[in-house]
Amino acid sequence: MKTSQFITFSLVFLTYFPFAFSEKCHPSDKKTLLKIKKDLNNDYIFVSWDPKIDCCEWNNVRCDPKTNRIYQLNIANSDLKLPLPSAIGDLPYLEGLSFRNTNLTGQIPQSITKLTKLTNLDLRTNSLSGPIPSFLGELKNLDYLGLSHNNFTGSIPSSLSKLTKLTGLLLDRNKLTGQIPESFSQFQADEIYMYLSHNQLSGQVPKTLGKSNFTWMDISWNKLEGDISFLFGKDKSTSGYDFSRNMLHFDMSNMVFPDSITRLDLNHNMITGSLPKSLAKFDSLYLDVSYNRLCGKIPVSNRLQELGSANFVHNKCLCGAPLPACK
Ligand SMILES: *[C@@H]1O[C@H](CO)[C@@H](O)[C@H](O)[C@H]1NC(C)=O
Ligand SMILES: *[C@@H]1O[C@H](CO)[C@@H](O)[C@H](O)[C@H]1NC(C)=O
Ligand SMILES: *[C@@H]1O[C@H](CO)[C@@H](O)[C@H](O)[C@H]1NC(C)=O
Repeated sequence: MKTSQFITFSLVFLTYFPFAFSEKCHPSDKKTLLKIKKDLNNDYIFVSWDPKIDCCEWNNVRCDPKTNRIYQLNIANSDLKLPLPSAIGDLPYLEGLSFRNTNLTGQIPQSITKLTKLTNLDLRTNSLSGPIPSFLGELKNLDYLGLSHNNFTGSIPSSLSKLTKLTGLLLDRNKLTGQIPESFSQFQADEIYMYLSHNQLSGQVPKTLGKSNFTWMDISWNKLEGDISFLFGKDKSTSGYDFSRNMLHFDMSNMVFPDSITRLDLNHNMITGSLPKSLAKFDSLYLDVSYNRLCGKIPVSNRLQELGSANFVHNKCLCGAPLPACK
């Protein structure tokens, strides 16, 4: 094309298609999003996803201001009743992907492993089923994995421990069975919040987890057995432990607690021994040891008597305020 021809062409083009130059959205991202819209077949949610409009202007997505690539896709509170489209893997700049409370069905598509920049995957409160795929361990940059409140079955894949940047792991309220993976001692972030409650996990908590340093650990409402005292210790920075509603059976008399502890819920287990005196030094501790097999005097502190008897009832021979006096 000669220069004069190019100028004429450009003038004609700019006159008739001005928005073609102002559209920021990457054509490949736009094509993928339109495929997702088609697959999910829901005019209500995707009403703003108009092919004639720049996709950086659409609702539920965000374009990076520098690269103009889609880096966020967030849908919530919708009734999709379809699987997550596998086209999702063709948004290579995606960092945050969230379909929360959207009635997604089926399994997580393997194409998700193409999203190497993904840091945040939130699929909480859906009807996803089948095993939690072990390929999620390939999403090396994940900081947050939320799969709570779905219908996942089978055991927890040990490959999740390859997510070394993970700070939030939420697998609670599913139908997961088997043991907590031994590899879960390998998480490396400074702060790790782990929620595995309301599943059917069984067996002993692996001893390897004694090396780990969870900030928050909720494994309540499972079928876990045996001893967990090795998860405690002065060298940890854990603030909350919830082990309630399991079948844990050990003597807690000599347990040593981290200074950072603010919540210790052990209700409905088979814990024996007495309450360690050191519990008296935590002025803002929430403690619930009801429905166990504990004995002896409840330590006296600014805090423990304030908690009320419900947090201590139904033990073998626990006594002293807020329970009746020891004999
Ligand atoms: C999901 O489906 C159930 C059952 O059809 C329905 O009651 C519920 O409202 C749906 N959720 C949303 C967020 O629309
Ligand atoms: C899980 O599956 C059961 C039946 O298999 C169904 O009744 C239930 O609604 C499902 N729950 C969710 C959260 O999808
Ligand atoms: C736990 O983390 C805290 C703060 O990050 C650190 O001081 C402590 O040494 C860690 N303990 C273990 C057992 O890794």
